[in-house]
Amino acid sequence: MPALVLLGAQWGDEGKGKATDLLGGSVDYVVRYQGGNNAGHTVVVGDQKYALHLLPSGILSPGCTPVIGNGVVVDPSVLLSELSGLNERGVDTSKLLLSGNAHIITPYNVTVDKVTERFLGKRKIGTTGRGIGPTYADKINRVGIRVQDLYDESILTQKVEAALDVKNQVLTKLYNRRAIAVEQVVEELLAYADKLAPYVSDTVLVLNQALEEDKVVLFEGGQGTLLDIDHGTYPFVTSSNPTAGGACTGAGVGPTKISRVIGILKAYTTRVGAGPFPTELFDEDGEALRRIGGERGVTTGRDRRCGWFDAVIARYATRVNGLTDFFLTKLDVLTGWEQIPVCVAYEIDGKRVEELPYSQTDFHHAKPVYEMLPGWNEDISKAKTFGDLPKNAQAYVKALEEMSGAPISAIGVGPGRDETIEINSFL
Ligand code: GDP
Ligand code: IMO
Ligand code: MG
Repeated sequence: MPALVLLGAQWGDEGKGKATDLLGGSVDYVVRYQGGNNAGHTVVVGDQKYALHLLPSGILSPGCTPVIGNGVVVDPSVLLSELSGLNERGVDTSKLLLSGNAHIITPYNVTVDKVTERFLGKRKIGTTGRGIGPTYADKINRVGIRVQDLYDESILTQKVEAALDVKNQVLTKLYNRRAIAVEQVVEELLAYADKLAPYVSDTVLVLNQALEEDKVVLFEGGQGTLLDIDHGTYPFVTSSNPTAGGACTGAGVGPTKISRVIGILKAYTTRVGAGPFPTELFDEDGEALRRIGGERGVTTGRDRRCGWFDAVIARYATRVNGLTDFFLTKLDVLTGWEQIPVCVAYEIDGKRVEELPYSQTDFHHAKPVYEMLPGWNEDISKAKTFGDLPKNAQAYVKALEEMSGAPISAIGVGPGRDETIEINSFL
């Protein structure tokens, strides 16, 4: 049972960092397979808090080898500053492996991300402005720069020329910006080559050999199911595949190797950026969830939009990912409500709909149908077993499990590593 995928079941920020870190002590490799430094994963160990953007959360577990897979887009300056930040805090990062096939977020892709958003005006996606979309676009357009290109100056120059050929036309003629000089970009990128060299490796080979030796490999998704470029609320999505299949393409591991797919599920819902969100709250309940849950973006510092739990989305996540388990997080945040509404279905143009509509238009019109569940007032942050939870909290978890279509195998009752109730072991 060596390979597990751990991913976001909603719109990101479900608590993936904490869940990965929790398992990190018992696994041999933790692999990021998509996304880049648009992610912000918080890990709390004792009184220390870490915010990781590009590095897999397993980097904080000494026995674990962290891997950045081929499907990730890498901003070298962010990677190097994240590494030195951890080194300054005494974390050993020397085991990191970086795929030579991962694509590089170049400075011009960060520029294009910001300029594109500005020109979209009120239709903007609300991206993190980190150059994620334009870098994946270059990859698909076959004008991307890969980590391995840093080690061949002539190839690198040709590739940067090819990428900037059209981009400079667009930047100068359409967006009224200055052209970007090829030499300047090449020089900046070459300066990273030596610093990254100790980490660069054939991660596909390493991971497949590890699996053959029965080592335990954990794939950590960034973002979440509803932000997936294929299965999310397109176009209000990120430009990669956080869903389970992305772990195979983004790390070069066959689907037959994956034995468990764990969906991280917040006990309510949040979203950052634009796009539909049926259970979004605009009242004091939404404000309270934001305040009590500390719902502010780790990457951009934006307030997260907050709403009640949406079982339609959870069922959808079970289906598109083939989830075997859920890890329910932030149950403690719901303490103190007399009744907790849970969205069990949508009403779309007067009709009750149980499953996520495939049509964007329908989803934009979806109104939540709520069922009220009784709340609890007792502090649950010290609960260690399911039986320690108040009866109404137990019933809330059981109801969510029934509606969502996969067993809830762990429950988060606080941000710390030990503030977790383990019901079924993941390993
Ligand atoms: P990620 O992007 O999925 O890794 O999640 P983020 O780190 O962006 O956001 C989750 C936030 O919730 C972080 O501040 C975590 O420390 C915190 N957190 C995770 N699990 C729990 C939990 O069970 N209870 C509480 N109160 N906070 C949690
Ligand atoms: P973690 O891993 C929440 C959102 C952005 C925007 C959309 C596209 O911490 O859960 P992008 O910069 O990716 O092109 O932006 O996706 N987004 C996230 N929202 N958590 C994240 O990561 C996110 N990464 C991107 O807000 O709406
Ligand atoms: Mg986050």
